[in-house]
Amino acid sequence: MPNSLYLVQFKQLTELLVEYQWLWRPMPMAHARLPWSSCPELCEWLSTLDISQAAQWKAAPNQVAEQLAKWWPALAAIPRLTDVPEAKMAAVAMDERLGVGVPGRKWAQIRAYLSAVPTQPSTQRYLEWCAGKGYLGRAVAASTPARVDSLEWQQALCEQGQAYAEQHQLPIQFHHLDAFSEAALSVIHRCDHALALHACGDLHVHLLRQAVAADLNAISVSPCCYQLITGKTYQP
Ligand SMILES: C[S@@+](CC[C@H](N)C(=O)[O-])C[C@H]1O[C@@H](n2cnc3c(N)ncnc32)[C@H](O)[C@@H]1O
Repeated sequence: MPNSLYLVQFKQLTELLVEYQWLWRPMPMAHARLPWSSCPELCEWLSTLDISQAAQWKAAPNQVAEQLAKWWPALAAIPRLTDVPEAKMAAVAMDERLGVGVPGRKWAQIRAYLSAVPTQPSTQRYLEWCAGKGYLGRAVAASTPARVDSLEWQQALCEQGQAYAEQHQLPIQFHHLDAFSEAALSVIHRCDHALALHACGDLHVHLLRQAVAADLNAISVSPCCYQLITGKTYQP
């Protein structure tokens, strides 16, 4: 599909989401009562669902759209507007033993992420930004000849990640640092390719700014929690 058609699709989806934000914006677990009092039929339907039925609906978002379209016909467009072809990705050969102890979904994310990240043989140092225990970094260190600098502010996670790297002789160096500190800048500057998986809100925005300023060869981010920012609105 030409890019201009994606733009139309994206614009339509954005408009729909904005118009119906009162429907999807309420935070799960944050309300003592269902927060859609303007639509008693919706609340009544939701109240009839048991946990397993709720799980089935959760696994079938297009059917949810169909159901909601009974009350708001415009929502019938959601399956079409969210339908985009999947990116073709080259499978990365990974030693599955590295995934031992990594939660299943996390390992699947890492696989998909690495399959999508363009790698260059000239890369000597990867930066793993807000690394947690360094699950991503270990997969990178094991599947490329490059070194990995993993930055994380929780000391216990740094210690666990470093211990794993040493035990498995992986070229990973943890840095126990605040991502917003001056010291973190020098770690960014020494790397060629910055990686960030689930660096929330301002953490990935800061990386994007600093990695551009440091003129890194490549930046590959897959962020989350865009609302965790000090500013009022997120600037994509
Ligand atoms: C959602 S976790 C993602 C961890 C890992 N990248 C993953 O995908 O499993 C975000 C991580 O960012 C770290 N973090 C939060 N604020 C930070 C900061 N100011 N500096 C460095 N790391 C930070 C947290 O401790 C946490 O490990």
